[in-house]
Order: sequence, then C-alpha cells, then structure tokens
Amino acid sequence: MTSPIIVPSYVSPRVRRFMDQQRDGVKIQPPPPFVETRFGRLDTIPWHLGDAGFADPKNFSTPPHIVGAIVDYLVQGTGRNKLDRDNVKNEVLRMLDGFRDGSLTASELFMALAEFQARRNTGERYSGAYYDVSVTDRFKELIAQERRRDGSVCIDPKQDIILMDSGSQAFDYLIKILGCKVLMPKPNFFTYHVVSNFYSALEGNLDLLRRKAVLYDCDEDGMPKLDEIRRKVREDSEIKAILVINPNNPTGANYSRELLQEIVQIAEENGLLIIADQVYNQLTLNMDRAVLLHELTTDVPIVEIMSFSKEYLMAGFRLGALAFYNVNAALAEVREIARKLDQQRMASNIVSCVGGVAALEGSREHIGQMKEIFRRRREVFKGIDEIPGLKFIPPEAAFYGRIICSGRTGTEFATELLDGAAIATIPGDAFAFSDDPMPYPFTRVTLLTDERRIQEGIERISRLYSKK
Ligand SMILES: Cc1ncc(COP(=O)(O)O)c(C=O)c1O
Repeated sequence: MTSPIIVPSYVSPRVRRFMDQQRDGVKIQPPPPFVETRFGRLDTIPWHLGDAGFADPKNFSTPPHIVGAIVDYLVQGTGRNKLDRDNVKNEVLRMLDGFRDGSLTASELFMALAEFQARRNTGERYSGAYYDVSVTDRFKELIAQERRRDGSVCIDPKQDIILMDSGSQAFDYLIKILGCKVLMPKPNFFTYHVVSNFYSALEGNLDLLRRKAVLYDCDEDGMPKLDEIRRKVREDSEIKAILVINPNNPTGANYSRELLQEIVQIAEENGLLIIADQVYNQLTLNMDRAVLLHELTTDVPIVEIMSFSKEYLMAGFRLGALAFYNVNAALAEVREIARKLDQQRMASNIVSCVGGVAALEGSREHIGQMKEIFRRRREVFKGIDEIPGLKFIPPEAAFYGRIICSGRTGTEFATELLDGAAIATIPGDAFAFSDDPMPYPFTRVTLLTDERRIQEGIERISRLYSKK
C-alpha cells in the first residue's frame, strides 16, 4: 500500500495569492528566435531589449577604465590594503623621526613598525573583507559631489547616501519602509508595480493589491497630467508620496524645468515626499542632461533612486544608491530605517563600488558616444511615420521610443508585429495594471538594435500592412 505523499508548502498564503494575481497580468516572455509569417520564416528582430550590454555589446559594454579599476583592486587591494611602494621609505623614515623627536615612544614605534610589516606581508591583494571604507566613503563622497554640481545642494555623504546593489533594490527598500500610498506614473517602469503590489499583499491587503500604488496618467507625449495628479492627491489622503521617473522608461520623455517645478509645487502644497528616479539623467538626446529635482527646491523632501546600470553600462554589477535631500523629520525616519536595514545586510557589494568610484572619477566619453548612436537610430525609427495608421514618438532621453497604434490595444498590436513581421516589442499594457489599461495604445521599442535592423523592421511592417 502506498502512503499518501504530503507536499509541505513553504510559501505563505499571502504570497501565493499575490503570485496568482500576477499571473493574470501581462506576461512578458522571451520571443521565439524565428517566426513563420506569411512572408516566410523570419528571424526575430529584437526591438524589445532594454539591456544595452546584452542587446549590443559591441557598442555598449562597460568602459575599460571601470573594469580596469576592478581588476586592479582584485589583484592588489586598495585603501587600507594597498601599499604605495614609493611611500614605503618615507613612511618608515617618518616613524623614526617621530621616535627621535619624542612624539613616539619606543613601544609605539615598535607597534607601528609591526603593523606596517603586517600590511606589507598581507596587504597587497584583495582580502575579500565585507568592508573597505576607503572605497565606500570615497564613493559616497563622489556621489555627493556629483549631486552638488549646481552648488546649492546640501548633502552629507555619510548621512544622506546609502549604497545599494541596484536601482531596483533601492526602490524595494523604499517601498518596504513607506507606510503610505505612492502616486506613480502610468505608464510606469513595471518592476515598480510588482514591488508595490507585493508589499501590499504582504501587509494583508489581499483584495486591494494596490494598497501602495495609485497611478497618474501621462499624455501621449509622456508628460504627466498635472490636473490628474492634483485631483488624486486631493481625493485620497493616504497618498503621501509621488514617484517621478525622469527621464522616463518606457516613454523616453524628458520633462521640462517648468513641468518639474509644477510637480514640486504640488508636492509642497500637499506635504508629499518626492521619489525621484533619475537613472537616465545624463542620457538626454536634445540637451546636455536632464533637470534634477533636488535642484528645484530646498524645502520639499526628496529621495532619489540612483543606478549605475544605464549611464555607466554596469547593469550586471548591480550598483545603485538612495540619496536623501531636504530631509525633514518624516524623511529622517525613512532614512534611519533604510540605514538600519542596510546594516542588517552587512555591506554593499564592495567590488562593484570600486567600479562606481572609477565611473565617477574617470572619463565619461562613452556617454557622448552612446548619445550619438541613439540619435542616429532615432532618426531611422522615424521612418515608421510613413506607414499609415502608425506614429513614432521619438525619445528625448534614455533609449525608449514608442509606436502609437490606433484601433487595437498595445498587446494586440505587439502580437501583430511578432506574428506578422517577427518583430519583438513590449506592449504598453505591460506598463500599467492589467485591469486599468493605458488610455492610448502603444508598444515600446528600444534604440539598442543597429540601424540596419531598425530599417529592416520598418520595411517588414510596411509590407505587413500594405498587403492587407
Ligand atoms: C526607470 C528605471 N529605473 C530603474 C531601473 C532599474 O535599474 P537597476 O538595473 O539599477 O535595477 C530601470 C531599469 O531598466 C529603469 O528603466
């Protein structure tokens, strides 16, 4: 007789309910490499990829000075561990001088020499230690310097910057801490939906998954609808924070100073915290860089989500930060909890931080080169406008463009492109809640495929619709 096998569950009912709900949402699956179309078997053109290094490693790979700094660090260590050979003699002579002039006793001299010897014997390689404050302190200082560029920002690197293992992790930390609803853009970077819903579910809001997120619409050009923001804040007193993603994924929009000022004003009038995702701020295609929110106010509390994935092509290193500005009592509490959580996980990824230091200290030539490539590809994409019924919205920043289609949803249109022309894109519906779809239909494309493949895709779409 066989005994029944009881499979234990390791997952809480709340988490399972959340996952079940997620399955009903838009599914993003890897497209097939080939598609049988009525024009024959075509290889898939990957207009959907958002990972520059994966999509086009020839043009977008981590700059050599960043990789070089990491290799150096692994080979010889740095800071406390690194022995500067030229200074060895001077350091010993200084100790002896100290002994001669009486500032060091004989035993202190002995101890200093012993410590020095120990460093010589063990120090000239990477130790694998959790901490190397010479790296993390320097990194925080460089981030602060970067953000003090306009001269008016008061930011204390030790207090106000918390190193994170990615922008996504930075957001995850924030949402777990915040006990309020956050007003978020629609379309929205989809990780933010999933994370917000997950924590809503954990808090037990099973029937109201969106406990943590309320969406505000952006228009077809990707600009936030300010009236809607005002209305939603007025109607729901539980909204205490607003997420601004500028430049934006998936719209490629870059908000004007005036628009950002209006958002700051709404935040000020309603006591909102601004969560500023500015991970593409240097990747602007029509101007030098995007306007950063903390440059516009010394009053409104802001927490910035930073990432080194995009501008420094370090996505796989998983490197980011939280930066706090205009910290009032309420934001100080958030910062304190974030710091405690940070300490719980011992340390951030020190090897990636070494790369971060090199990124901020070193040349940014690659950013200019990326922008050049994006501008060229953006021009080619404009050929979409020749196809009746379609409109291309060119990005002003980042590397995301959109094709607006009418008469069907973004998902239907993306499916037509994949089935009929073997072109992979991400439907706009994926960037909203599935039961609260986009007010206008679009599919997202990226500037991470080369000009030839963009042109080829446009020809395929043109053929697809002209034969109908
Ligand atoms: C707007 C935006 N914020 C944050 C991230 C996440 O960056 P990270 O790689 O640091 O998690 C992305 C990644 O695509 C993004 O587009």
